Amino acid sequence: MNKYAIAPSILSADFTRLREEIVACESAGADWLHIDVMDGHFVPNITMGPFIVEACRRVTELPLDVHLMIEKPERHLAAFARAGATRLNVHVETCPHLHDTLRQIKSLGCGAGVALNPETPVGAIEAVMSEADLILVLSVHPGFSGQEFIPETIAKVAYIRKKLDAVRSPAWIEVDGGINVENVGKVKDAGATAFVAATAVFKHPRGTEAGIKALRAIIG
Ligand code: DX5
Ligand code: ZN
Repeated sequence: MNKYAIAPSILSADFTRLREEIVACESAGADWLHIDVMDGHFVPNITMGPFIVEACRRVTELPLDVHLMIEKPERHLAAFARAGATRLNVHVETCPHLHDTLRQIKSLGCGAGVALNPETPVGAIEAVMSEADLILVLSVHPGFSGQEFIPETIAKVAYIRKKLDAVRSPAWIEVDGGINVENVGKVKDAGATAFVAATAVFKHPRGTEAGIKALRAIIG
């Protein structure tokens, strides 16, 4: 297993060729596949549900890192687990009983991640830091790929790194939004260990494989 994970977000993949896109990710050395689930309520956009997760599961053995940008995620966790999700990442802003939700995810046999929006302070997740397998730090306002990276995220990552290290947590710190060859080194140096990218991978001028390899060349 790589120490640093690259997680292409299929949000910017060509869905008429989803299988080829996923195969290209795999052969270029992607570690996980990131699937952005949006409900048109928590975020303005509507994307995919368990049906797409299940389709991905049939074409790859890569871990499926499912990012749930939906209200009341607890109602849908079992369906995503059944569809083959490896890890379910819920937003702290949508979970009044975050402890219970993370436990529910684990009882379904999935890894449990917690995501925070750019304006949500780290204090909102401190109480569950030792329960989470992954902290997902949004570095854009969730809803769309192709947005610009918010630079304040770097200090947030560094702060989360300090907190996790203090409790000797092995949790991943995943940064999601606007990641590219210009900023990925900085977020890694701040302590991130997993990097989501849609545009930088699937819209790379020389293709998907080149997009992944360009990121890998920087983060190792
Ligand atoms: C934002 C999503 C991200 C996004 C990444 O709502 O969670 O995963 O698709 O896209 P890029 O890499 O284009 O910012
Ligand atoms: Zn995402």
